[in-house]
Amino acid sequence: MQSQRSVVDLVPTHVVREGGGFKVRRPYRMGKVKSPFLLIDEMGPSEYGPGEALGAPWHPHRGFETVTYLLDGRMRHEDSAGNTGELNPGDVQWMTAGRGIIHCEEPHEDFLRSGGRSHGFQIWVNLPSSHKMMEPRYQEVPSSESPIVEKDGIWARVIAGECMGATSSIDTVIPITLVHVKMNAGTRLVQDFGSQLNGMIYVFGGKINLENKTQVKMSPIAHGITASQQVRDGDLAILSNGTQAEIYSEKGAEFLILAGPELNEPIERYGPFVMNTKEEINQAFLDYRSGNFAR
Ligand code: CO
Repeated sequence: MQSQRSVVDLVPTHVVREGGGFKVRRPYRMGKVKSPFLLIDEMGPSEYGPGEALGAPWHPHRGFETVTYLLDGRMRHEDSAGNTGELNPGDVQWMTAGRGIIHCEEPHEDFLRSGGRSHGFQIWVNLPSSHKMMEPRYQEVPSSESPIVEKDGIWARVIAGECMGATSSIDTVIPITLVHVKMNAGTRLVQDFGSQLNGMIYVFGGKINLENKTQVKMSPIAHGITASQQVRDGDLAILSNGTQAEIYSEKGAEFLILAGPELNEPIERYGPFVMNTKEEINQAFLDYRSGNFAR
């Protein structure tokens, strides 16, 4: 049976400095309710002059995945295993840190020289305890190869999971949905979340309304009116259980749809390490300091 998801919590964002000092917009609280997502950082948008662009110098990760999605600008990355690569607008890097990597994420030298607009996302996806120490891996999906679907005034890039019949080929350890959506004014999107996953929507332009006809039927007072909850630019909406969400935008909007399972495991977090116990965090420090972190 289909049941509609509604907004159970609206988490506002604030602007903080990250890495070498670049600006990110981040939800105030990232607690257990948002499993399996540990962090949703909107990097920028920032306008950099020549020589001003900032990045994140060398740092380690263990126990989770970092997903970088660039909208504007140009980045390059390099890691302790000798991998290098670059990200251009629309490109996705899905990095599984697993047992550990040390990397740097910097503006591309051409972008640093010229300056310009930089905008994107870095999202941290937790790994279940069974996979925290897996071998590190990268999945890189250039803009030209990622599934994009456009229908009835709605555009979507499917980074993971499914939207409007398009499916991503990214291999995720646990089932993840990550979709970038742009809706024109007066459009409506019904997104299927399945019934097993935690669902959320992060709006970063315009606003949307989540409509819930189930509620209307149950309430005699609201009879004839569609119950509707507004989610605005800079809000992370946590959704109730259910199968699908009906999203309407009166004036147009841009947002990310995120979904993933409740891991139901303890989280011990220290900076760039996210494990299940304090002992595992201590071990991560020992391994990092002894140079045993990445091959
Ligand atoms: Co990093």
